[in-house]
Amino acid sequence: MPAITVRVNGLEVTKEVDARTLLSTFIREQLKLTGTHVGCDTSQCGACVVSLNGKTVKSCAVFAWEVDDSDIKTIEGLADGDALHPMQAAFREHHGLQCGFCTPGMVMTAVAMVEANPNLTEDDIRDGLEGNICRCTGYQNIIEAVKTGAKAMRG
Ligand code: FES
Ligand code: FES
Repeated sequence: MPAITVRVNGLEVTKEVDARTLLSTFIREQLKLTGTHVGCDTSQCGACVVSLNGKTVKSCAVFAWEVDDSDIKTIEGLADGDALHPMQAAFREHHGLQCGFCTPGMVMTAVAMVEANPNLTEDDIRDGLEGNICRCTGYQNIIEAVKTGAKAMRG
C-alpha cells in the first residue's frame, strides 16, 4: 500500500492507504477525526466537507492517495482550544442545528464562504450552501447563523 503524508489541522501525519480509500474514510477511520460525517453515498449531502489546501471539498468524493502532501482542515481544527470558532459560536447562538449531523459540513462550508467573500448577501449564503443538505432545521436558523458568523469573522 502506498503511504501519504498530509498536514491535518497543523499536524503532519504519514499513513499507508489502500488505493480505494476515500478521504472521508481516511479522516474518520485512520485519523479518528469523526467530526467529519458521512451522510450519503452519492456525494450530495455535504456532511463530509473539509478544507483541502484552502478549498472546500466533499471528502467522500476524493481518494486519500490524491491528497498526498496536502494541508487538510477538519471541523476539529476550527476551535482555538476551548474557544469556539466564531462560526461555531454563531451556530450555537442561533440554534442552527438540531440533530447536528450536517453541522460540521455546514460550518466548514460557511467558514470558507466568508473567507472568500466577507460581505456575503443572504442570496450568496443560500447559493453557497446549496451542496449541504439539512434534514432537520428548515435552513432559516442556519442562514441566520452564517450571517452572524460572517459578521464576527469580519471583526
Ligand atoms: S457523505 Fe460526502 S456528500 Fe454525503
Ligand atoms: S441538523 Fe439534522 S441534518 Fe441538519
